[in-house]
Amino acid sequence: MGARKNGKITIMKILAIETSCDDTCVAIIEVSGDKNPCFRVLSNVISSQVEIHKKWGGVYPSLAKREHQNNLVPVLKEALDRAKILEKSKSVLNKKKTGVLEKILEREKFLLKKLIKFFNSYKKPIIDAITVTIGPGLEPCLWAGINLAKSLSVSWKLPLIPVNHIEAHIFANWIEVFGKNKNVKFPAICLVASGGHTQLILMKKIKSYEILGETRDDAAGECLDKTARILGIGYPGGPIIAVKAEKFKTQHQSEARCWTSSAPKQSFWCGASNLKFQIKLPRPMLNQKNYDFSFSGLKTAVLYDFKKRSTKIRRSKSYIQEMCFEIQQAVIDVLIKKTKQAAKDYKAKTIILGGGVTANKELRKQFAKAFLDESFELVFPEPSFSTDNAAMIGITAYFHFSEAKNWKEIAANANQRI
Ligand code: KG4
Ligand code: ZN
Repeated sequence: MGARKNGKITIMKILAIETSCDDTCVAIIEVSGDKNPCFRVLSNVISSQVEIHKKWGGVYPSLAKREHQNNLVPVLKEALDRAKILEKSKSVLNKKKTGVLEKILEREKFLLKKLIKFFNSYKKPIIDAITVTIGPGLEPCLWAGINLAKSLSVSWKLPLIPVNHIEAHIFANWIEVFGKNKNVKFPAICLVASGGHTQLILMKKIKSYEILGETRDDAAGECLDKTARILGIGYPGGPIIAVKAEKFKTQHQSEARCWTSSAPKQSFWCGASNLKFQIKLPRPMLNQKNYDFSFSGLKTAVLYDFKKRSTKIRRSKSYIQEMCFEIQQAVIDVLIKKTKQAAKDYKAKTIILGGGVTANKELRKQFAKAFLDESFELVFPEPSFSTDNAAMIGITAYFHFSEAKNWKEIAANANQRI
């Protein structure tokens, strides 16, 4: 591997880029050790475009691409700076190198201008490889990150490693700082639930995967985002719904404590049976004997309920909070049941959670409870590594180091499978 030896330990630094959706991310990770690699995140910069996409209630790909082009060089600089490997330089790019950059970024003139300025101002940092997400994701967005990665790889003469975004959500669990998970036992069942995907994956060992099931329509996060749009409460839906669901729960928990005080063994939710709006959403495909999901009907059920209410109710805090609680619970119920089934059927030793939806506190709590008495070990990363970030791309690249490619061979693959 193209890494340096420091005493007896091999140390390698990887610069990672992630632009598959609406976050512009650059990270520098350090890997030490050969057989049992340890990962250290030296920097992990994320520039979120939430404010831009808020008014659409979702991500607008061409707008997101433009934002990536605006943000990539500042985010890159900040990531290098935080990792303490950004050094000023006085040399300027020669004509030949400028020519190659012009070719790579021929349709991204703005990024080209910023990048040339960057190369003329800073030295090549001490890193060993460049990596970038090539899919799955929004194609125009993927290209922004890929073209930056190509430019860096060519200019600094560094290997370029293409990475799959879904696999990276799994490897986010290998981040050393938070990882008691260095020795993940296999087979593992991985649940990746994000804004674009919901998949149950059997991981037999590192880099050996089989997709057991996935959503047949909307992803879990997409369902939450669309629900938030119906309710008019903002974007992205998942975290907003989580806050409102928690408020509902806290409020009703205290009421339920009074209701159930004469019957302490009764579960809390029987106390809450006199809910104001009696919202009851379906749990799609819950009892089907497969590992697939379907969330689009759930969003439709939200819409039906919403439409039958008066304008006053639709806008009321109590209705919105109850709906947030119910939609979140419906998603959690389905994810837990299907994951548990897969874990039992495949005699999994570990359950690995990844993707933005698994940042959800309530989901984590309920997964922990559901798997408490079982022989599986449940692992999930610190929440900021569940949502999109480039550190997870860097870690994944380490495992694919030998698959580095020439920049000309790398292209976006919006529908790439793990
Ligand atoms: O993995 P991610 O950051 O990006 C994709 O690969 O799609 O996931 C984004 C999704 C969004 O749908 C967002 O609403 C959801 O994850 N999400 C959450 C939470 N944080 C983000 N869903 C529920 N609870 C959260 N705390
Ligand atoms: Zn993601």
